[in-house]
Amino acid sequence: MIRVQHVIIGASGQVGGYLQRTLARLGEDVRGTYYRHPEPSLTQLDITEPKEVQDFFNALKRVDVVWIPAAMANVDQCQQDVDASHLHNVEAPGYVAQTAMKRGGRVVFFSTDYVFDGHNGPYGEEDPTHPIQVYGQHKEEIEQYLRKEIPHALIIRPAWIYSRDENPRNFVYRVLEQLKENKPVKAVIDQWNTPTPSEGLVKMAWQAVQDGFEGILHIAGPERLTRYDLTCRIAKAFGYDVSLIEPVNTASFHLPASRPLNGGLITQYAPYKMESGRDFTPVF
Ligand SMILES: NC(=O)c1ccc[n+]([C@@H]2O[C@H](COP(=O)([O-])OP(=O)(O)OC[C@H]3O[C@@H](n4cnc5c(N)ncnc54)[C@H](OP(=O)(O)O)[C@@H]3O)[C@@H](O)[C@H]2O)c1
Repeated sequence: MIRVQHVIIGASGQVGGYLQRTLARLGEDVRGTYYRHPEPSLTQLDITEPKEVQDFFNALKRVDVVWIPAAMANVDQCQQDVDASHLHNVEAPGYVAQTAMKRGGRVVFFSTDYVFDGHNGPYGEEDPTHPIQVYGQHKEEIEQYLRKEIPHALIIRPAWIYSRDENPRNFVYRVLEQLKENKPVKAVIDQWNTPTPSEGLVKMAWQAVQDGFEGILHIAGPERLTRYDLTCRIAKAFGYDVSLIEPVNTASFHLPASRPLNGGLITQYAPYKMESGRDFTPVF
């Protein structure tokens, strides 16, 4: 059997790392990159440097599937540095995707639920986008670019990703670190979303690639919850005192970027509807 050669641009991140470990466990050939968080098995690559991107791809013997979870994913940082966000979230992934396509690779890009305004979620793949912050605007722009220039690309939109990883980029871990020290955790009661486990996300994404899915696909968890509900569940599941979770409104944080409030994602494609227990092991 000929094995698929996967390339993961941003394998040091939350999604990329989970993808890397899962595909490797399945016996697939995987090459991954990091940017600022080195890992021994990964190659350093800055996607904002076109020559580095060219050299990286030129050095690969084969390129079958190119996963692009690499991004400037901090919503508030994007709001505060619009040029950096455009470079990382539009220009650089666009160039990576073009280069990957020229090498014959199938492009899989990770977008976001933040392309929606959160006025009347949950949203399906066909609903009109209307981002309310820079991060979402740039993700919408790269989605449109990819759909026009690389129509065979798979564009995955997840929402509020979490995992079992002991990594500060993982929401569950951040909550537990606070609770362990008996510190109260503020959690918003006015943001609704469909929290997405990395395990199910990666499973569905790989299935969609194998099925030859093209275009936009929503891959999200099966339940719609507030951030407060989610945080209480984490506390309960790990045996912490739920009274440490303090319900607050989004406005009380005075964040630079607006958040979709009544959000969340659903998919019209039945094979990619996630079920607890079947597609992932519940963390909480
Ligand atoms: N997390 C969520 O809740 C969520 C929700 C919806 C959509 N998404 C989208 O899903 C994707 C993955 O998110 P994530 O949570 O895994 O993000 P993450 O943990 O922040 O990972 C981002 C990755 O991008 C890499 N990267 C950043 N700048 C780079 C550059 N200049 N050159 C090369 N690589 C660079 C990082 O490398 P280093 O770490 O080595 O610097 C890291 O591997 C993103 O597109 C994000 O927008 C995330």
